[in-house]
Amino acid sequence: MRIDVITLFPEFILEAAKVGVVGRAMERKLLDVQAHNPREDAEGVHRKVDDRPFGGGPGMVMMVEPIRRCIQRIRALADPAPVIYLSPQGPRLTQNKVEQLAKTPRFILLCGRYEGIDERLFERDIDEELSIGDYVLSGGELAAAVVIDAVGRLQEGALGDAESAAQDSFGNGLLDCPHYTRPPVDGYGDAVPDVLMSGNHREIAKWRLKQSLGRTWLRRPDLLQSRVLTPAEQKLLDE
Ligand code: ADE
Repeated sequence: MRIDVITLFPEFILEAAKVGVVGRAMERKLLDVQAHNPREDAEGVHRKVDDRPFGGGPGMVMMVEPIRRCIQRIRALADPAPVIYLSPQGPRLTQNKVEQLAKTPRFILLCGRYEGIDERLFERDIDEELSIGDYVLSGGELAAAVVIDAVGRLQEGALGDAESAAQDSFGNGLLDCPHYTRPPVDGYGDAVPDVLMSGNHREIAKWRLKQSLGRTWLRRPDLLQSRVLTPAEQKLLDE
């Protein structure tokens, strides 16, 4: 899949897309992230991309024309792609939305800076908005990096173990179970739960499911409201 990012800081996006699972997905050509600076689409010697708000007030607003031209330039490169504006005013990003985006062959992420973008872009150029949480960042770039990471790791072949995405927190609608690795007893004398050392795979699966259910109940009971046990989970718990 391909993600085009419109940003005044293309190097930030390109650097973020080099590391870890996303970096590997890029190397394997499972994911192609391109960054575009709307300054290249701006006019005049100063290539101005922002200006003072009409009606007065503090801060600057990103101008309609450079962004519009940038979107058109990207859309001309290949198939039409939806434009997603990252903003605290959009609906909150969820794992469901991430899964939906992961199946979209191509989309464009638009990162704002300053006080935001000219409102006229919403009517003609932007298809949807997304927020990564109820707090205000100084620009959309960190939010774009979050979307790229969450979507990139779901590309077929991006994760080493094919099952690990399904086992993630939210991947199956529950929070993840606890994980342990060596040593079996740490420096404080804290030991790994016996069941994980037992070699009994059914018992381990049952323990993990119970831990996931318990954690979800304690920390995010809202997730359990629409979640029913699958027949396989019910069978495991009945054993
Ligand atoms: N830009 C600024 N704050 C943001 C947020 N919380 N989510 C997405 N984009 C943003």
